[in-house]
Amino acid sequence: MNAQDKQKAFEESEKRISETISKIKNRIAVFSGKGGVGKTTVSVNLAFAMQLEGYVTGILDADITGPNVAKMFGIDDRLVAHENVIVPFRKHGLKIISIAGILIPGQPVIWRGPMRSRAIGQFLSDVDWGTLDYLIADLPPGTGDEILTIAQKMKPDYAVIVTTPQEVSVIDAERAINMAKELEIPAIGVIENMSGFLCPVCNNKIDLFGSGGGRTLADNYDVEFLGSVPTDIDVRILSDNGKSILHEKPDSKVAQCFNQIAHKIEQCIHSTQENKKYAQT
Ligand SMILES: Nc1ncnc2c1ncn2[C@@H]1O[C@H](COP(=O)(O)OP(=O)(O)OP(=O)(O)O)[C@@H](O)[C@H]1O
Ligand SMILES: [Mg+2]
Repeated sequence: MNAQDKQKAFEESEKRISETISKIKNRIAVFSGKGGVGKTTVSVNLAFAMQLEGYVTGILDADITGPNVAKMFGIDDRLVAHENVIVPFRKHGLKIISIAGILIPGQPVIWRGPMRSRAIGQFLSDVDWGTLDYLIADLPPGTGDEILTIAQKMKPDYAVIVTTPQEVSVIDAERAINMAKELEIPAIGVIENMSGFLCPVCNNKIDLFGSGGGRTLADNYDVEFLGSVPTDIDVRILSDNGKSILHEKPDSKVAQCFNQIAHKIEQCIHSTQENKKYAQT
C-alpha cells in the first residue's frame, strides 16, 4: 500500500468511527493505573446495571493483551463478520466486543502500542454497534497507548477511575485522574473497590486493603466519589463462571453498590451534557 492509499484508508476508517460514535449517546472509559484492582469487574457490572435499567448498552474490551471481558461473560465463541462488519457478541441483551473472540485460548498478543491502538480503532470503525445509550470501555492497567486511543477515538464523556483503598493503588489512581484531566474527559469519578471484607464466618468487617483511600483521593482532586464496593467472595466465584452478581444475587450489598454507582454516573453525564447545552445557548 503506498502512502496515498494508506492516507485514504485512514480517512475512511476515521469517518466510520465518527459515524459509530454519533449513534452512541454516552461513552464511559474505565481505567485505574494499577492492575488487578477490579476494572473489568466494574465495567461488566456497570454494563449490567445500565442494561437492567433499560438502557441499550455495549462493552468494548480495550485490554488487548489481557482481555478478560469475554471470560467474565462466559463467552468462548469466535467473533464473526457479516459483509466486512464485525458482529458483537450478545449476552443478556448487552453487546460485547473483545479480542479474545479472535485469539486461540492461551495465545499471547505480542503487539507494540500502534498495533494495539489499531485493534481498538477497528473495534469502533468495523463493529456493528448500532444505536447505544451507553458504551463502556474496559482498559488495561497503566496510562498507556490504549487510553490515548480510547480518548481520541471514542471520546468518552466520563472517566471511571477504579482503586482499592491501599496506598500503592491510590498513587497509581492519582496518575489516572491526572491523565483523564489532561485528556479533557469532561467528568471523572472514583470507585473504591475491594473496600472491606465481610467475614462470612464471624460477620466482622475486615479492612484487608485499608479504607477511605478512594474517597480521600476524589476529595483531593475535586472529582466525584462514586462509592465503595466491598470485597465479596461471590463476585470472584460468579465472575470466574461468567456470571454477574447483579443477575444472580440482586439483593446483595455489592449488587446494590453497582446499581447506585451506575445511577450516579447516569445523573452526572446527564447534568454535564445539560450544562454544555446551556453554555452553548
Ligand atoms: N469487589 C470484589 N470482591 C471480590 N472479588 C473481586 C472484587 N472485584 C474484583 N474481584 C476479583 O479480583 C480479580 C481482579 O479483578 P479484575 O480482573 O476485574 O481486575 P482488573 O483491574 O480488571 O485487572 P487487570 O488490571 O488485570 O485488567 C478478579 O478475580 C475479580 O473477580
Ligand atoms: Mg481487566
